[in-house]
Order: sequence, then structure tokens, then C-alpha cells
Amino acid sequence: RDRKRQEGVNLLELSASFFRERLKMPEGKGARDYLATRGLSPEIQTEFGIGYAPDDWEALKRHLSAREIPESVQIEYGLLVHREESGRTYDRFRDRVIFPIRDIRGRTIAFGGRVLGDAKPKYLNSPETPVFHKGRELYGLFEARQANSRMERLLIVEGYMDVVALAQFGIRNAVATLGTSTSEDHLSRLFRMVDEVVFCFDGDRAGRQAATRALETVLPQMIDGRQARFLFLPEGEDPDTLVRREGAETFVDRIACASPLSEFLFDQAARGRDLARIEDRERYASQVLMAIAQLPDGVLKSLLLNELSRRTGVDQARFEALMARAESGSR
Ligand code: CTP
Ligand code: MN
Ligand code: MN
Ligand code: MN
Ligand code: MN
Repeated sequence: RDRKRQEGVNLLELSASFFRERLKMPEGKGARDYLATRGLSPEIQTEFGIGYAPDDWEALKRHLSAREIPESVQIEYGLLVHREESGRTYDRFRDRVIFPIRDIRGRTIAFGGRVLGDAKPKYLNSPETPVFHKGRELYGLFEARQANSRMERLLIVEGYMDVVALAQFGIRNAVATLGTSTSEDHLSRLFRMVDEVVFCFDGDRAGRQAATRALETVLPQMIDGRQARFLFLPEGEDPDTLVRREGAETFVDRIACASPLSEFLFDQAARGRDLARIEDRERYASQVLMAIAQLPDGVLKSLLLNELSRRTGVDQARFEALMARAESGSR
């Protein structure tokens, strides 16, 4: 099994250097131009190991096969696609900019590939493999750790380009989930490294929905001493477009002003409700109470209950009793 795993690691590194080399060759001209239009400097491209998969059905397959990597292994690690009907195999990544996804120790475990234009799908990622589990990995975590001897907080963004663009502007603590929503697994990994996470999703409907889901996921992990905050971007912007437009300083200010979890929680429950009306206040209180119930016991939980009581005029002891009853009722 170890030999097999070594074979996989080897093939992923061989592929990563293949992609990097192709970016420098004449056939990589289109990709280099594309990266230039996206404003990525050669230095940052090197730091993140960005490469190019040529416009060829078998370029990587030939390269790996010549190095005695069996096709079955190339398929297993997601580099080669196997067509059942025809029995043919071909390169998964073709004519795309390649972002290597690295594990915490810097080993390449998967790839993300972006089209150079507007074709669909915009991004293609490696499938699940023996070394790549999408719901666990975070793009940019290795690079963030390399760039910082100590980190106070990590920024969770949506995309590859967001991570790399922020890094180029000196904001070197952003990581991205890989086209999945933020999982408990992601958060517990991050909280082992830092006490604070800042969610910074795109300023669009999907981004706002992601923030709502992230709130639910983070609640059970909010032991005292940890912080979660939410940074909402102007409509139509993502961290990449915004940092380019406004510069690093303004972006850092925005991070400093991001809403704490408590604020987002109450704001979210108040949205679309008229708190002068009793019925709306009831819905509001119930929603906040359900969220508070997800928190581990601690000071934050008590303070939030107290605040809810202050905001609704209902006795805190009543809320505690309701919460206890809901908990025992659900068992
Ligand atoms: N994503 C994906 N597959 C897609 C679209 C998106 O895996 N077809 C993932 C990618 O990780 C992407 C992230 O979701 O980076 C966010 O998507 P989106 O905001 O649409 O892309 P951007 O990262 O902003 O990409 P770009 O700036 O290159 O257009
Ligand atoms: Mn595994
Ligand atoms: Mn988006
Ligand atoms: Mn973008
Ligand atoms: Mn985006």
C-alpha cells in the first residue's frame, strides 16, 4: 500500500512539473497572456506553482507513460479519463490554466484547471482519489503557512483566483474550499491553527447563501476563545476584483470591520421582519434561540442569550427553559 501511495505522489509531482514547464513553452503563450490579463505576476505564479495543460488529448498521458506510470494509476489519480464505451483514455485537463492543490506539507494532491476564456465548465477539478478528499482540503493553506511564521486569522474565500490575487497584494492568509461549501472538517482543521476565521464569500446571491450555511456549520465549533467573522463584499465583487480595484489597504480595513458572528446572527434573523410586531418578534427570537442552542456551553452562549433577552424583553430564564425542553424533546 505504501508503494502504491508513493507511486501516486510521484505521478502527481511529475504532472505538476509537466504543467509548469508547458506554461513556459511556446504553446503556453495563450495561458501566459491570460494570466497577465488576470493581473497575476510571474512571481506569484511561481509561488503557487501555476501551470498550463496543453491543448492535446494525450500530452500528459504520453509524458507519464514514458516514465513507466501505468495508465491504471493515471486514471486512479484523476489525470486520465477512461471512456467506458470506447475503452479510450485521454487527458482530463486540456487547454487550461492549472492550479496545483497541495496538502499541508506541500505535496501536490490534486489539480484545478481554469479555461482561458468563457467556456463551460469554467473550472475542472481532480475527482476524489486515494489522496484527495474535496470536503477536507483547502486551497492555499500550505502557501499561507509558508508565508507566515505566526497567523492570527485565516480568511475563507471561494476561489483559486481570490487566494492568489490576495497573496499578490500581500494578504497571505486566504484559503479556499474547492467548489464545496465549508465543512465542519475544514473548520476544525483551521481552528487548530488559528483562533479566528473570517468568511469572505462573493458579493452575490450564492455568496450570501454560503455565508448563511457557514454560520450554521461554525456554531458548534465556537468554543470560548475562538472567533468567527463575516465579511460581505459589494454586489458583483469577489476578493480578487475588489483587492485589484481598491488596493490592499482598503481590503485590510474591510477585514478589520467584518461583522462578528453575534452581529450576523441577529441581523440575519431580523431580515425581512418588522420587530415592532409581536409575531415577527416571536419568529426572530425562535430563530436566534435555535442558533444559540447549537453553541457549545460557554460564555459566548450565555452572553448571546442575555442579548436575545434584552432585545426581545423576554426573561433569559424563559429562553433557557425553552432551550432545555427543545433539547430533551429532540432525544
Ligand atoms: N468552481 C468549480 N467549478 C465551477 C465553478 C466554480 O469548482 N464550474 C469553484 C472554483 O473553485 C471557483 C469557486 O468555485 O474558484 C468560485 O466560483 P466563481 O466565483 O464562479 O469563480 P471565480 O473563483 O471567481 O473564478 P474567476 O475569477 O476565474 O472567474
Ligand atoms: Mn483516504
Ligand atoms: Mn461567485
Ligand atoms: Mn473571480
Ligand atoms: Mn468569484
